[in-house]
Parts: sequence; structure tokens; C-alpha cells
Amino acid sequence: MSATSQCRICDGTVKEFIDLGRQPLSDAFVVPGEEKKEFFFRLATGICDTCTMVQLMEEVPRDLMFHEAYPYLSSGSAVMRTHFGELAKRFLTTELTGEDPFIVELGCNDGIMLKAVAEAGVRQLGVEPSGSVADLAAAKGIRVRKDFFEEATAIDIREHDGPADVIYAANTLCHIPYMDSILKGVTQLLGPNGVFVFEDPYLGDIVERTSFDQIYDEHFFFFTARSVQEMAQRNGLELVDVERIPVHGGEVRYTLALAGARKPTEAVAELLAWEAERKLADYATLERFAANVKKIKEDLIALLTKLRAEGKRVVGYGATAKSATVTNFCGITPDLVEFISDTTPAKQGRLSPGQHIPVREYREFADDHPEYALLFAWNHADEIMNAEQGFRDSGGQWIRYVPNVHVS
Ligand code: SAM
Ligand code: TMP
Ligand code: ZN
Repeated sequence: MSATSQCRICDGTVKEFIDLGRQPLSDAFVVPGEEKKEFFFRLATGICDTCTMVQLMEEVPRDLMFHEAYPYLSSGSAVMRTHFGELAKRFLTTELTGEDPFIVELGCNDGIMLKAVAEAGVRQLGVEPSGSVADLAAAKGIRVRKDFFEEATAIDIREHDGPADVIYAANTLCHIPYMDSILKGVTQLLGPNGVFVFEDPYLGDIVERTSFDQIYDEHFFFFTARSVQEMAQRNGLELVDVERIPVHGGEVRYTLALAGARKPTEAVAELLAWEAERKLADYATLERFAANVKKIKEDLIALLTKLRAEGKRVVGYGATAKSATVTNFCGITPDLVEFISDTTPAKQGRLSPGQHIPVREYREFADDHPEYALLFAWNHADEIMNAEQGFRDSGGQWIRYVPNVHVS
């Protein structure tokens, strides 16, 4: 009998399909000497047998993840800066063209998207609980509220600023287990013809690519068009558009409107049909995914163990939150991966969560190329590989584990 929990969307029964074991907080990089202070939880996911929402079996308290020292900086990738700049332009020329329009972003982080909106002089508000990244957004001239978005926050914003034309969230909605409060807030803050747009890693891509490292403490939900449609319906909203986008290893951008306010596009029906054809909501599909994950673990450990026996140097590239899942699930220790190179100042000089692999400045990778780089930031592969021609020229090879373990 596999474990069950209660669905955070519909109170139905969530049946577990994968257990990734005891895991630390994925973004809690450890100060050397403080290894004993780490928080651990059981990382496992299941699917609700009523509304089909895939979700974590155990929830981590939000204050442990999103606080003053939250280290993730959205603007660390040039591709992501372009991605969000283009979306801001699109909002400015479509949804934000009325009289004195207003956009609210949940999880605006360092202001990567709202920067262009503020520069265009359009009314905006970023809601961001993680203090240090919120400060970076404020420094860009963006209006920021240091807070968790939830129903009470939404009511307060509506009282002071009036209704929103756009409520937007990128890589944030899937981080929030208390969806009931979020959607109640959205329906109260949204203007009558407003849209709630959010983009998050897509379960369809995760299953197709076996990208199991998308599963970590911060990623509570794994959406599909079907589960989002059901979630919207239960809360007086309607799924009116979907768009598959290539960033972060495959995401979907969902557009919700108040029920009946907008006509759903063809794309919604098409994605629903695609999901049905792939049997994305079938337990057996998810069990196959779990079997593929097990194979990646075996192959990756076999490769790293062989390279160690041959005396080869392997360095990790990108101390991603995803890498916490990979290193802790597979048992990748500092004797297999010498250090992880990362450009984020708040991660450097620290140890990776759980396995305590040192995180070092990018310069240390560039100044003394190893024989192999294990690409933890595989979602930025094109950007990184283009920039790292010198590594390749020096004879370096990339190790990747999505969709399977391969060296190139
Ligand atoms: N939107 C950015 C992007 O796509 O790069 C940042 C994504 S980051 C992975 C998730 C962000 O959501 C964090 O900055 C975190 O502090 C924020 N967050 C978490 N819970 C939130 C909530 N209830 N309301 C608003 N932001 C939240
Ligand atoms: P993400 O996959 O969650 O966006 O995290 C990417 C991590 O990789 C982040 O810590 C920054 C780091 N990184 C580099 O070190 N070099 C790079 O060229 C890129 C794009 C990211
Ligand atoms: Zn459910």
C-alpha cells in the first residue's frame, strides 16, 4: 500500500507515486561549521484521485524557505531576462492599455519582469516575502510589498489600489500550498475583465523528460491544463488560455479569468486532448516515471564512481535548487563532485544542502577547467554551453542526466 495524503485543492485522496527520500531545504546553503543545523523532510509526490493535481506529500513551512536570506536571483540568466522583458512588453501592449492600468506580480523576486513595467510608467506592485531580493526590485524603482500574497493581502491591495488588470506569477504559484487563500484573493483583487496569468514547470515535460529534479521543497504543485482547469472551476475562475514555453526545462503559461468573462482559446482544448492522449493523469504513467528516475540514479552514480576510479576531476555547474534533489537522492558526495560553480554571491563559500559539496565562484571553474562538468543548471543548457566554448576547447565534457545520463 502506498502512502496517501489530503489534496490541497479538493480534499480528495493523494496517492504517492515517488519517494525521493529524506531531503534538506533546497535553497538553504550551509555555512561551513553549521552542518548539524539543517532541516530535513520527506520529499515525495502523489496524484489526487479526484482532481488529478500532482503535489508533494509533505509541506515545508513557508518561513523556512522564503525569508530575508533567500538566495535565488531571477536575473542571473540572460535568457530569462529576455523572456521576462518580452512578456512585460506583451502585457504593456495588450492587457495594460486601458485608463491607468494596474499589474500585481506575486514573487517578483529581483524585479526581472516588473522593471520594464515601471520604466513604462504603468502602475505596478510586486508582492515578495523574501526581503533581500525584494530590496533589489525596489532599487530598480519598482513598488514592492514585502509580504506573502494570500487572501488578506489581496483584500488590502484592492482597498488601497483598486482592482488589477493583470495578476501575474512566474515560478511562484507552484510554490504555494495554500491555494485556497490565493485563489480567493485573486478573485477579489481582479477587475471584471482582468486576467490571472502564471507560468510554472509543466508535468507533461517533467514526465516526458524524466526531469525529477523539478521536485523539491519549494515546488509543491505540478500543474497540468486538466488540474488547473479543475482548480479554477472550484474557485469561480476559468482557464481561458495556455501556452507551452521552453524556459526552465518546459513550462506552461496559464491564463485564468473570472468565470464567463472570456472565451477559452482553442489551445486549451488542444492541450487537454494532448494530456489525455499521453494518459498524464494515470497512476501507471507516473509509476513508469518513477521507474525511469530510478534508472537515472543508478546510471549517474555508476558514471561518477567510474570517473573517480579513473582519477578524473568532476565539477558541478550551477548550484540549483534542483541539484539538492539530485545530490541527495543519488548520494552524490564531495568525493564524486569536487565543488559546484555558481555565479550567485549568496551561495558562494557555502556548502550544498545535505551533501555539503562546496559552492565556489565561477572563476574557480574557469581558471582551472576540470575534465567533466556535471550540468545541474541543465534548464539553461543552451546559454551555458554557448558561453563555455573554452571549457569544451580545453577537452572538457558535459555530463547531463535529463532525459537520461549522457556525456557530450
Ligand atoms: N518570478 C521569479 C522568476 O520566475 O524567476 C522568481 C521565482 S522564485 C523561484 C519564487 C519566488 O516566490 C521567491 O522570490 C519567493 O520569495 C516568492 N514567494 C513565495 N511565496 C510567495 C507568496 N505567497 N506570495 C508572493 N511571493 C511568494
Ligand atoms: P535555476 O535553474 O533555478 O534558474 O538556477 C540556476 C542556478 O545556476 C543559479 O544559482 C545561478 C546559476 N548559474 C550559473 O552559475 N551560471 C550561469 O550561466 C547560469 C545561467 C546560472
Ligand atoms: Zn484534488
